[in-house]
Amino acid sequence: MNAIDTLRQRAPHLRPRIAVVLGSGWEALADHLTDAVQIPYAELAGFPQPGVAGHGGSLWLGHLGAQPVAVLGGRQHGYESGAVDGMAEPLRVLKNLGCHTLVQTNAAGSLRPDMPPQSLMLLSDHLNLAQRSPLVGVGGLERFVNMVDAYDPALRAHAHRVAQSQGATLFEGVYAWAFGPQFETPAEIRMLRLLGADAVGMSTVPETILARHLGLRVLALSFITNLGAGMSAEHLSHAHTLQQAQLGSLAASRLLADIVSSLRTQ
Ligand code: HPA
Repeated sequence: MNAIDTLRQRAPHLRPRIAVVLGSGWEALADHLTDAVQIPYAELAGFPQPGVAGHGGSLWLGHLGAQPVAVLGGRQHGYESGAVDGMAEPLRVLKNLGCHTLVQTNAAGSLRPDMPPQSLMLLSDHLNLAQRSPLVGVGGLERFVNMVDAYDPALRAHAHRVAQSQGATLFEGVYAWAFGPQFETPAEIRMLRLLGADAVGMSTVPETILARHLGLRVLALSFITNLGAGMSAEHLSHAHTLQQAQLGSLAASRLLADIVSSLRTQ
């Protein structure tokens, strides 16, 4: 059975308008869902299979407040196999299910001393440093995607309003996609700062490109787990990223739930 039919069968009355991708540390968002149906990627044709979806590997269909949503717990990263189009089919399926907005989350390193670990940063733009595209090999003129305002200004303004109403600090800046899986060298971090990046991470950019190709509006949020390599005495590791993400995950997920549930959709 194709994935859309599986989803329609498992949650026949739910028509999600917003899709959310959970990155490292954002898993607590699933606790905010009500009436949720959880479907492992293994049951969804064309979705990244366990072992490939680095973190998690389930789709939830449910509600955040009154908002019907599809939540993707786990994405396929470029560093896992070299392929950067692993999320093409899941995003196509969610678009066909009725989603018009993609909200992405990730963990990232900060390149700004004034944006310390545990900060939240809204993406205003990105640097595709890896110079890889999930649209290579795709036909049609639509592949020449316009990337101006890829991170939707109206959605960003909405996120700032929600953060402000909660007294939460929400930074905004440019996210650089480093292919990984190794962390950056201190020289690379100095280069990224010179290039105008505010944060660095190993995800999100391919999905933003895919989403814009599909005509989805995009909002993306980074949870800052560390300062970039060489900017502090901390030893960077995946365990450190996860531990830091865990610390702030409740507050971050609550803010995200409020941002998504209060989005007006038609
Ligand atoms: N670099 C790249 N990816 C990351 C980092 C980092 O410092 N922190 C969390 N994800």
